[in-house]
Amino acid sequence: MHLPNVLQARFVQALEPLTDSPSDYAGMIRPAADPKFGDYQSNAAMPLAKRVGKTSRDVAAELVQNLNVTDLFEEPEVAGPGFINLRLKDSVLFDSIQQMLLDERVGVSKTTDPKKVIVDFSSPNVAKPMHVGHIRSTVIGDCLARTLRFYGEDVLTDNHLGDWGTQFGIIIYGYRNFGDPAKVAANPVPELSALYRLTNQLIEYQKAKQSVATMADKLSAAKSDAETAKEASDQAESDEDLKPKDKKKLRKNAEAATRRVAAIEADIKSLKAKIDAVDSDAELSKLASEHSDVDLAVLRETAKLHEGDAENLALWKEFLPHCQDEINRIYDRLNVQFDYTLGESFYHDRLAGVVEHLTSLGLTTKSDGAICVFLEGFDSPMIIQKRDGAFLYATTDLATLQYRRDEFHPDEILYVVDSRQGEHFKKFFAMAEPLGMGEVQLVHVNFGTVLGPDGRPMKTRSGSLIGLESLLDDAVSRAKDVVCNPDRLATMDPPMDGEEQQQIAEIVGIGAIKYADLSHHRTSDYKFDVDKMVALEGNTATYVQYSYARTQSILRRASDGEGLPAFEQVIEQAAATQPMTFTHPNERSLALMLMRFEEAIEQVRLNYAPNALCDYLFETAKTYSSFNESCRVLGNDDPSVMQTRLALVTLTGRVLKKGLSVLGIDVAERM
Ligand code: ARG
Repeated sequence: MHLPNVLQARFVQALEPLTDSPSDYAGMIRPAADPKFGDYQSNAAMPLAKRVGKTSRDVAAELVQNLNVTDLFEEPEVAGPGFINLRLKDSVLFDSIQQMLLDERVGVSKTTDPKKVIVDFSSPNVAKPMHVGHIRSTVIGDCLARTLRFYGEDVLTDNHLGDWGTQFGIIIYGYRNFGDPAKVAANPVPELSALYRLTNQLIEYQKAKQSVATMADKLSAAKSDAETAKEASDQAESDEDLKPKDKKKLRKNAEAATRRVAAIEADIKSLKAKIDAVDSDAELSKLASEHSDVDLAVLRETAKLHEGDAENLALWKEFLPHCQDEINRIYDRLNVQFDYTLGESFYHDRLAGVVEHLTSLGLTTKSDGAICVFLEGFDSPMIIQKRDGAFLYATTDLATLQYRRDEFHPDEILYVVDSRQGEHFKKFFAMAEPLGMGEVQLVHVNFGTVLGPDGRPMKTRSGSLIGLESLLDDAVSRAKDVVCNPDRLATMDPPMDGEEQQQIAEIVGIGAIKYADLSHHRTSDYKFDVDKMVALEGNTATYVQYSYARTQSILRRASDGEGLPAFEQVIEQAAATQPMTFTHPNERSLALMLMRFEEAIEQVRLNYAPNALCDYLFETAKTYSSFNESCRVLGNDDPSVMQTRLALVTLTGRVLKKGLSVLGIDVAERM
């Protein structure tokens, strides 16, 4: 049962005699902050009192009078200025627990009107190795797809691979100039990766050399700004006529200017590191001197590919499957699947048609040789074809939208893509209406950046991004140290063999990376910190997984040789038929927590907010831990107490497992 929704409907009725717009107030229902005051609280009386010109306590009293909730709640109480406190009846909690136990969906209702939703996620640019930045779209998108599916929506996942862009120009160039065909044929994935890195390194080297000089100018300008700002602030400090507010403003100004200097210095440092890495290596610097303007050459190779040049096309066809093997290995390991993988190349032949179509609708303008669409409310146009005839990322997205609409008839498309592409999606979405596709709801499910320990976008020392696979390996090996260390292993009965340890390390390590990503607010940046991720304490997957394993360990002991699934059924049946009873407040808190599962998972669906579900699982695991410490489950003399507690343990296990599975995270039966 979704109590806030039920309460909302009841409040609508109660509010009707008091206002013409009951729905403005009916939703003001929160879980109570302190169990002393009940389980839920309505704050509707205060704002409504203002509107109708009465005291809020009077309004609250009237609402309580009208409210019909006695089937579910004890007598409502008015507190403070007019908070309405509601406490669930224990009998309702017992019923819910019993129903959830008998329900495969653990009490979460299914949609009666399924929508077709396309989730466009992961979508890496292949040919270059996957890096930490790709984790977010992959993990968040997978979680959203799983959640929507769980609700019964008609979900279609599509990996919009970047399989047609400059990155292929890079490996084609690398292959032609530095590649050894025999080596590539024998060992394609690492060889192509190496060629990508090498070519890219040369491009970055040449770019770095060009920008160091301008950066030096920028630095000296920033330094003199910072000095001026500091002087102004210092002077202000001793000026007695100045208000503290203004002093503070100047201080902030000076601090910001100093930070800008530091940021530029850090950029220069990283440019210099790129330059040094090449200059200090005889072989690399020889290559750099022999190959100038690599970036232009790469653009030429890319253009040739797009124009249908037979040789480049043949290389592309040869390389693409290898690049896909590489990313598929990671998807396998992350347990992420796609219904479709229609990359950018799939749309290539449709791009000219998009430009023609937009032109025939009178939407395009030629500007400086390029074909553009000027959109109301935007400073700059959307360019859909460059002067040299090349199409753009946006053109492909328009073609993709058209194709998806005609082929799949979606109600909604979610684009799970970095916040830094916000402007692109705003413009692109603004084009849907004039293109006659306004009926499809388009959502940019954006997310923040993964940061390294220094608080800057995560990179290795040489400046290139850290490969995703090595991060996964690292997390798994640290997970093993945490959960399979000798002290813990000594307590395992029966002992844990090497194979089981490895399996658990994989489940915990991969789970840790996913959970760390999902538990942060989607749009904020977060610091990648493996030790924190795999810790057994705190808001981590490891803690939630461990809590699950604890529930299973109790059930195993209780089942006393019976198979666990069979035993769980015994509990389900018993819970459904035998009366339950609460003898300790921690039992009730746990039951209430479990009942809120639907409220938490709904946040993922409505707000695309996996972090709400993580928070819930963490709270549930903590509540379970307090329950465990205070409520002896096995060997309790009173059969109905033991039965109630076993039911709570069983349901806790179910909720934690289901919740984690919606996040895309596995559990181990013991750890
Ligand atoms: N390949 C793009 C990138 O790595 C992301 C694509 C996202 N999907 C889309 N339909 N634009 O930046």
